Amino acid sequence: MDRLLITGGRRLSGAVRVNGAKNSALKLMAAALLAEGTTIIENTPRIVDCLTMAEVLEHLGASVAWEGSTVTVDTSGARGLETPYELVRKMRASIVVLGPLLARWGRARVAMPGGCNIGSRYIDLHLKGLERMGAEFSYEHGYLEASAPDLHGAVVWLDFPSVGATENLLMAAVGAAGTTVIENAAREPEIQDLAAMLVEMGARVDGAGTTTMEIQGVDAFRPIRHRVVPDRIEAGTFAIAAAATLGDVRIEDARAEHLDLFLSKLADSGAGIEVEPGSIRVWASDRPLAVDFVTLPYPGFPTDLQPQMMALMAGGRGTSIATENVFESRFMFVDELNRMGADIRTEGHHAVIRGVERLQSAPVRALDIRAGAAMVIAALSADGISEISDLHHVDRGYENLEERLASLGAELRREPSLWPAAV
Ligand code: UD1
Repeated sequence: MDRLLITGGRRLSGAVRVNGAKNSALKLMAAALLAEGTTIIENTPRIVDCLTMAEVLEHLGASVAWEGSTVTVDTSGARGLETPYELVRKMRASIVVLGPLLARWGRARVAMPGGCNIGSRYIDLHLKGLERMGAEFSYEHGYLEASAPDLHGAVVWLDFPSVGATENLLMAAVGAAGTTVIENAAREPEIQDLAAMLVEMGARVDGAGTTTMEIQGVDAFRPIRHRVVPDRIEAGTFAIAAAATLGDVRIEDARAEHLDLFLSKLADSGAGIEVEPGSIRVWASDRPLAVDFVTLPYPGFPTDLQPQMMALMAGGRGTSIATENVFESRFMFVDELNRMGADIRTEGHHAVIRGVERLQSAPVRALDIRAGAAMVIAALSADGISEISDLHHVDRGYENLEERLASLGAELRREPSLWPAAV
């Protein structure tokens, strides 16, 4: 277990490159299961979650090799059907192999994900949709046994545009007999990336990026080479870090069109924003103005940038209100921010953030990936030396974060933790 020691008050400046999107790469790796042979996925972040997905694929009999940020998945030996609890508990997104396994082999055995730090995260929408396509499920000893000898197309209405459910259904539908329509589908850029890869593999998918997706099942898929879309959440995290430290940072390989609402909120807070082809420059010369924001499925304000934006608003001029509509318990990190002198009160899915002039350094914990990023941002702008423990959460989602921040002028170092991991 590592901790990060950050000396606050350094302005970030210079250029930083965004990696491939974690939330896309994980699903693209799972999609490789659909084709026999070697699929090559470029621009894959070498983060703990992607390494866990590699373990999931290996457990299923595939071979996975890394060269820099290129991952090669060879499925010639893949015959396994089981994703064990030890991997699903490390990463809930492991459940996304369900769709491709059912499409290719008609069976799967996947451990049920347990709770996590940001809400209960059910998989009922995944299962209801797959049931409509002919899959049957039973539960045994913590495992979900899935069987779909005759997976067929169906019209599926999602109660909520769940990212994971849309992806699982999409990956099942591409190999099911007939036509599937997903209504109220999630529209995230990562879903568009997955659909683009599946089409390259031979799938027939219409409407990716809209609320209605129509998929014609096909019999076979070819292994291909695909490049992961840049990570909009990582880009947003650097943008907020630049604003919070009154810095000036060029974020390269960032796709501004995936961050429209977020960037307009950041501009409302007084930050300067310059969008150029393939990069976004963000700077700030004064404490941010208070801005209200409401998380919603894409193209709304991303829930994965809510904690970081709260960290920015914690040092803002005035009072802002954040409303979290996607995950029920995504304010748990607020107590950590308050330990740094923030003045935030939560009530249900609203948070009232009374901006303070300066956050104070303190020892704090990273409670999950994005809450950890929020702590890093708070520490970068606070006075004194902060210590962020439970850094493994941050490592799940950000590759070499401290080196990249150091290259922008941050003063920070990683050290082994002095404390046992908190429970
Ligand atoms: C994905 C992202 C995560 C992001 C989230 C929302 C990955 C690996 N993770 O998570 O970073 O924060 O999208 O943009 O891509 N729900 C149900 N039943 C279901 C499925 C979901 O009730 O069957 C609920 C969840 O509890 C949650 C909400 O729907 O409250 C959103 O979940 P979902 O969009 O599925 O998020 P994930 O795919 O888990």
